[in-house]
Amino acid sequence: MKDKQILVVDDEPKMRRVLEIMLQKMGHRVLAAGNGREALTIYQGSTVDLVITDLRMPEMDGIELLAALRAQESDVPVVVITAHGTIETAVAAMKHGACDYILRPFDVDVLELAVQRALNGAEMVRQNTFLKQELNRGWDAFIGTSEPMRAVYDLIRRVGPSKASVLITGETGTGKELAARAIHNASPRRDRLFVPINCAAIPADILESELFGYEKGAFTGAVKERVGKFELADGGTIFLDELTEMPLGLQAKLLRVLQENTIERLGGNRVINLDIRIIAATNRDPLEAVRDGKLREDLYYRVNVISVDLPPLRKRPEDIAGLVEHFVIKHGYSPLGAKLPPAVLDRLMAYAWPGNVRELENMVERALILSGGGVLDEAHFLLGPKVVPAASAPDGSKSLSPLTQAVEGLEARLIDEALAQAGGNKARAAALLDISERTLWYKLKKYHPDQNSE
Ligand SMILES: Nc1ncnc2c1ncn2[C@@H]1O[C@H](COP(=O)(O)OP(=O)(O)OP(=O)(O)O)[C@@H](O)[C@H]1O
Ligand SMILES: [Mg+2]
Repeated sequence: MKDKQILVVDDEPKMRRVLEIMLQKMGHRVLAAGNGREALTIYQGSTVDLVITDLRMPEMDGIELLAALRAQESDVPVVVITAHGTIETAVAAMKHGACDYILRPFDVDVLELAVQRALNGAEMVRQNTFLKQELNRGWDAFIGTSEPMRAVYDLIRRVGPSKASVLITGETGTGKELAARAIHNASPRRDRLFVPINCAAIPADILESELFGYEKGAFTGAVKERVGKFELADGGTIFLDELTEMPLGLQAKLLRVLQENTIERLGGNRVINLDIRIIAATNRDPLEAVRDGKLREDLYYRVNVISVDLPPLRKRPEDIAGLVEHFVIKHGYSPLGAKLPPAVLDRLMAYAWPGNVRELENMVERALILSGGGVLDEAHFLLGPKVVPAASAPDGSKSLSPLTQAVEGLEARLIDEALAQAGGNKARAAALLDISERTLWYKLKKYHPDQNSE
């Protein structure tokens, strides 16, 4: 991670200079302050990606600075610099929300490691929040082996690995978003984010700041900078759903992003380089949208490098049986097998499905509820007005997140250093860490299960 803005806080000019030179060599930009108060003023007026601060300073010390930052709900990562033999102050700093500490004197490698770790951690927090939302949405794989769908899978497999922009068309509910995710997952970007944004669901005036993000003070109410979806999708894929609903002015800006691979946050003047793949979707005929003045022609050609058209469900009735079974299982019922009466299937296959697969899913869910888990008969599939039961939110599964791992690594390090400083005396180490001996014992068992700590 390069080209970040780092705020260095130290009362010693020489130390500030040393840090500045080291950080600039790593490719970052540096702002400097002589104490906490100065640092706060600078922080409020500019975009800061990381703070590195000394602890003992006149006017406002490092801990007070941390407290002030956290009181403003800033989540900027803070690394503190502390002298050898003052592990207590490092512990206090961590308690106030510092993410790491460096023992003085340090060499450039130690600094670089701490900077990378802090920046990565901040990135992870950002991605984690996003991923959790994504997980809650859940998504499934494609079902259906009809000829038109096999052609779609084939196309997805072939276009996935490239960086080419893709325009996905198809009626509502045909699986356009599913296709976009499948393309992302078939690409070398699969480990980075897939960031969907629905241009129709977000008010026009907010859409721009959602996409580009903004700097602090860009407009009234912008009290904190905000990372936009483009930046979030860096290295990954952005999915612009319902592209024809994007205001024309914004379409022009999007075209520029596509051509230059850079953005500027609103109210900012710093050019940010990005590597993003764009997938767009619309349920309108895109050429008609161009004719109607809803879609810029130049943008259409730029996005439509490859087009994937999803066939409506009525053109592939042979997929219906498999889809019904899939949704039965998805909604927690046991597989139907042969329990779906042929008459019912015939009827489903004859229906026009204006809402396509989404409509079928809703219909199946409703039938399952009406039948009370028994045999599904025709009456349960009233192909009349739709009743959509509220979906229950799937609960997120728990696993050790990368953030937790990082935090635990840091804790283990602090404990080892306290023990070393206390000459192996656990009571003294616990006192240094400001935790009870019992807690220390418990943590030692956790981090050093092999060592027999009584
Ligand atoms: N072939 C398929 N197999 C399994 N599930 C599917 C399939 N096609 C669509 N679905 C499911 O149907 C629902 C609608 O799909 P999706 O959201 O991708 O449609 P869409 O084309 O984006 O619709 P809209 O234009 O209304 O946004 C989703 O829950 C999706 O998982
Ligand atoms: Mg969609």
